[in-house]
Amino acid sequence: MLSHLLHLHGIHSVIVELRSRQHCEERIRAGVLEQGTVDMLRQSGVADRLEREGLFHHGIELGFHRQRHRIPMSELTCGKCVAVYGQHEVVKDLIAKRISGGGDVRFDCARFSIQNLEGPVPSVHFEQAGQSHELIADYIAGCDGFHGICRPAVPPGILQTFERIYPFGWLGILVEAAPSADELVYMHHDRGFALFSMRSPKLTRLYLQSKPDEDLTQWPDERIWDELFLRFDSADGWRPNRGPILQKSVTGMRSFVVEPMQFGKLFLAGDAAHIVPPTGAKGMNLAMADVAVLVEAFKSFYKENSTLALERYSSVCLRRVWKAQRFSWWMTSLLHRFEDHSGFDHRRQIAELDYVTSSRAAATALAENYVGLPMEL
Ligand code: DHB
Repeated sequence: MLSHLLHLHGIHSVIVELRSRQHCEERIRAGVLEQGTVDMLRQSGVADRLEREGLFHHGIELGFHRQRHRIPMSELTCGKCVAVYGQHEVVKDLIAKRISGGGDVRFDCARFSIQNLEGPVPSVHFEQAGQSHELIADYIAGCDGFHGICRPAVPPGILQTFERIYPFGWLGILVEAAPSADELVYMHHDRGFALFSMRSPKLTRLYLQSKPDEDLTQWPDERIWDELFLRFDSADGWRPNRGPILQKSVTGMRSFVVEPMQFGKLFLAGDAAHIVPPTGAKGMNLAMADVAVLVEAFKSFYKENSTLALERYSSVCLRRVWKAQRFSWWMTSLLHRFEDHSGFDHRRQIAELDYVTSSRAAATALAENYVGLPMEL
């Protein structure tokens, strides 16, 4: 997205990617785009397939004690909504756009390092097809995820880390079955949280709160369905449709932020700088918001010869990052079962669910965060 937007403003960039194009295009990730992310894709001319195939949602449901309650997001946010459209579909569309626009995208690279971050000419070294390459740049954007090489390239003592690890994970499945409801269902249950989502009119996506290191061999399909049906059990008889399980995975959950998101000529964006727990689906949207700020900053450098916006990149991003951290932590705390919770904690949690689903003020606070807080450029 960064490379695409830079290109639209006449700024040259090179993407160096560890994985193959196929891997990037097929790896199943999250799937909810905030209104602001949809707007960015639309405004930059890369939303044709999203328009056709995306599922636009105007509400979500929160469930507890066998009852589901609708939060009418669009009604509470002056018409904003979210789109359910797989992250890998966004990636596919962006790769196609970049390549058809003559972009320099290099897949299957290895042995990366970055150098001279404080000097006038930072550089990226890597190998591709057994050959060594060096790229000399004005700037390096570290968009290489939590496990990437950019954040660790910052010398010790510069970055401050803030972290919370949750004592659970999500066991996710992709199911070949029509979604049995039009909107997402976030279900609190004594046995643990469950989420009903979807990817298309023929694909249902379901998640179960699990152990962080859950062993998938202990979860044959039958056990997954039994657990899902227990947790989604609803007074009105609603449940997800069953079908062949196409994919199973376990994701750990953490909140993580580094400050600042910049060192010298290196700018960290997305998961390289921050991780949110998945509840509320903020991960990719936060990355998009970082990119929106970074593009404006690069524009101001290349068009107006000013580094002011680049200097402010980290502080502008972090204000919004921390609000998304707060929201993701709150949604996670609201909906999951915590083993160390006392009876008091559990009743407080139920009271909060009751409050959010019955007070327009509380539901509005949820809705405005869920559809995405404004991007502050
Ligand atoms: C999905 C993931 C989320 O984290 C979420 O809050 C909603 C939906 C998904 O993968 O479909």
